[in-house]
Amino acid sequence: MKKILLTLLLLTTAFCAKGQTAHESVKSPDGRMEATFLLLDGCPHYQLTRDGKPVVALSQMGFLLEWRDDLAHAFVLKEVQRSNFDEVWHPVLGEEANISNHYNEMLITLEQPVGSIESMDHSTETRPTVMQIRFRLYDDGLGFRYEFPMRYNGIDNALVCFWFKEELTQFVMTGDHTAWWIPGDYDTQEYNYTESRLSQIDSLWEKSHEHGGWPWTDFSRTGVQTALQMRTDDGLYINIHEAATLDYPTMHLNLDPKTFTFRAWLCPDAAGYKGRMQAPCHTPWRTIMVCDKATDALRSRLILNLNDPCALDDVSWIHPVKYMGVWWEMISGKSTWNYTNDFPSVKLNPEPGNSQSSILNSQFTDFAHAKPNGTHGANNANVRRYIDFAARHGFDALLIEGWNIGWEDWYGKQKDFVFDFLTPYPDFDLPALNKYAHEKGIRLIMHHESSASTVNYERWMEKAYNLMNQYGYDAVKSGYVGTIIPFAEGHYSQPINNHYHYAIVEAAKHHIMVNAHEAVRPTGLYRTWPNMIGNESAMGTEFRERIHPGHTTILPFTRLQGGPMDYTPGIFEPDMGKIVPWGKKMQHTICNQLGLYVTFYSPLQMAADFPEHYEPYLDAFQFIKDVAVDWDTSIYLYAEPGDYIVTARKPKVSSLNKAAEGVGELPDGKKNVISNASRYVYAIPDTVSIFNFQFSIPKDTWYIGGITDENAREFAIKLDFLQPGKTYDAIIYADAADASGLPGDDYNPQAYTITKKKVTSKTTLKLRMAPCGGFAVSIRER
Ligand code: NOJ
Ligand code: CA
Repeated sequence: MKKILLTLLLLTTAFCAKGQTAHESVKSPDGRMEATFLLLDGCPHYQLTRDGKPVVALSQMGFLLEWRDDLAHAFVLKEVQRSNFDEVWHPVLGEEANISNHYNEMLITLEQPVGSIESMDHSTETRPTVMQIRFRLYDDGLGFRYEFPMRYNGIDNALVCFWFKEELTQFVMTGDHTAWWIPGDYDTQEYNYTESRLSQIDSLWEKSHEHGGWPWTDFSRTGVQTALQMRTDDGLYINIHEAATLDYPTMHLNLDPKTFTFRAWLCPDAAGYKGRMQAPCHTPWRTIMVCDKATDALRSRLILNLNDPCALDDVSWIHPVKYMGVWWEMISGKSTWNYTNDFPSVKLNPEPGNSQSSILNSQFTDFAHAKPNGTHGANNANVRRYIDFAARHGFDALLIEGWNIGWEDWYGKQKDFVFDFLTPYPDFDLPALNKYAHEKGIRLIMHHESSASTVNYERWMEKAYNLMNQYGYDAVKSGYVGTIIPFAEGHYSQPINNHYHYAIVEAAKHHIMVNAHEAVRPTGLYRTWPNMIGNESAMGTEFRERIHPGHTTILPFTRLQGGPMDYTPGIFEPDMGKIVPWGKKMQHTICNQLGLYVTFYSPLQMAADFPEHYEPYLDAFQFIKDVAVDWDTSIYLYAEPGDYIVTARKPKVSSLNKAAEGVGELPDGKKNVISNASRYVYAIPDTVSIFNFQFSIPKDTWYIGGITDENAREFAIKLDFLQPGKTYDAIIYADAADASGLPGDDYNPQAYTITKKKVTSKTTLKLRMAPCGGFAVSIRER
């Protein structure tokens, strides 16, 4: 270790010109962590220790800029400001009702004095360059960001509009840690995780791409994405990520395997720039979470705490959503998004609905007279079937994909004008289906697949959101499949990150909640914009049999650190060969799928399978019906990335009520509906209406979920979080003794047992999970 530090010190000193040397430290509130800023011969660095031991060794900071000298040398320390902060805040939706935000802060102001550096516009000859670095140290990690004031001490900053060629921030690891990583990529995050030593990343690079998403745009054989979860040989859990990424490119990491040094690798824009800045401005937070236990990493709120408080005054329209979808039919191959097979290519009318359009009308594809292909999933009768099922089982909403014209050639064609997001296919009666759904207490969820043409989506967005408002849709699933338009942009460059944010902000104006797929992985922005109700932004259930066992035990450590995931669980028929001849076996049991509703946090949770796949297993389906999706308290009982997670959660009653009542405020009338999760928490029988619900008192309720990888496991779960002296009824959904989700001779994914038991705070439950299995328990006070 000492050797690495010394070599680094020598290297950095060689790189730096003679200049000022200084160091300033800040400690975490519990005193265990210490972050030190070091100016070494004018070059900025930092390091991080826990209990006196290095976690991040001496690491470089700064930037390379276009048209002027870098922001990495010739600095002098101007000022150090220290402060602390301690608050408890309450997320609109979340894993817990009260979040503690307690940190010590150190703001470093650095200056490159006049004459110390050069710039092509000569601005540095008359004005100093000012860069600040803000450190926030929590008990569970460090956040730091770079800030660029417009003026400092009454003098204008030489930095006004400036472009980054490279961010130089390093994260020097102290050894060959174990890491759970996906390859760095400018366009997709849809990969299985690889578990390896840092030194093995290079040799596993090809393999890490197997069964992944598309398109790939790699930049290095040792490039990885964040959130990156690591474990040291001493058992420390280190996680590198970023928080509040706004108007800035996404940060990946590039490893130098010889020194275990990661360097920030930003996703460039089409011109190759890695951030176009205008002072006053700042970068996102670079975060290093450090925990003694894996369960503490799941408990950490570091990323959320580093985001700004809620930007919306009125959040009354935001509510949790449990939904079904006309979706798995298309993913599995049973039906299609497109309505007809008549057209090899589609040209849409830029003036939808106007058949007299002056713009070469005759060239537009005429769906009204097209021959239906007979496989279109989003047809009136099928949608009604799903509405009936979802309503009967107390869901809040139904997603329908393939409702709008254009799906005949939406994929891989790089079409700019690919959808209008307004015009339904002839067999999808949008007004009538919404009316039918609302009468049954179901909202329809809109679908906007942009096909990665962000320019086209922005063109139609206002009209598309207005249409949603007109018919009472309050949530949209958007998608960004394929090559980004404008061409040569990647999915995570600054301009495209700005597009995703624009979609959220505009949606909020229309009281619309957004669930974006293939958009950039979240960085905690849902604290500020709680209408970001979900994201996919990782390999989700749509990858079917390509998902490795254990994948879902890693995601809560990585992808979910930034925000909830629309993983779309609930597949009860995992043998896809029963749906289409080319289908293969998915690697999970039914109980594993049940466990996901608790181990994965998402206030938007899907029951993704077909109604006919739930019908034979309605006793197990009951757990999906009963489970809540927004929480008062979460307890992470057991966890190890790649192996298992066991979580217990208590529902948040206020948002549960909101979800139940949310469907009541529709343009076409108020309905007497109550979601099934509310029924469960209030112990209200199926036959009773919303009026009884309003006068009922919620019961103390908990849900426990467990998931495992390919290995069977058993856990003893102490129910000491229940209220002493109270008696509870528990319903335990467990893998049967002969269950297995691992394809092979023993494949038996649908075998489970359901046991009812009286329990108290003194009870310990012994629960076993089959290979690729899991369990779920609902517990309600008598
Ligand atoms: C990819 C999304 O992740 C998936 O959920 C969706 O069905 C397809 N794109 C089509 O939009
Ligand atoms: Ca996807």
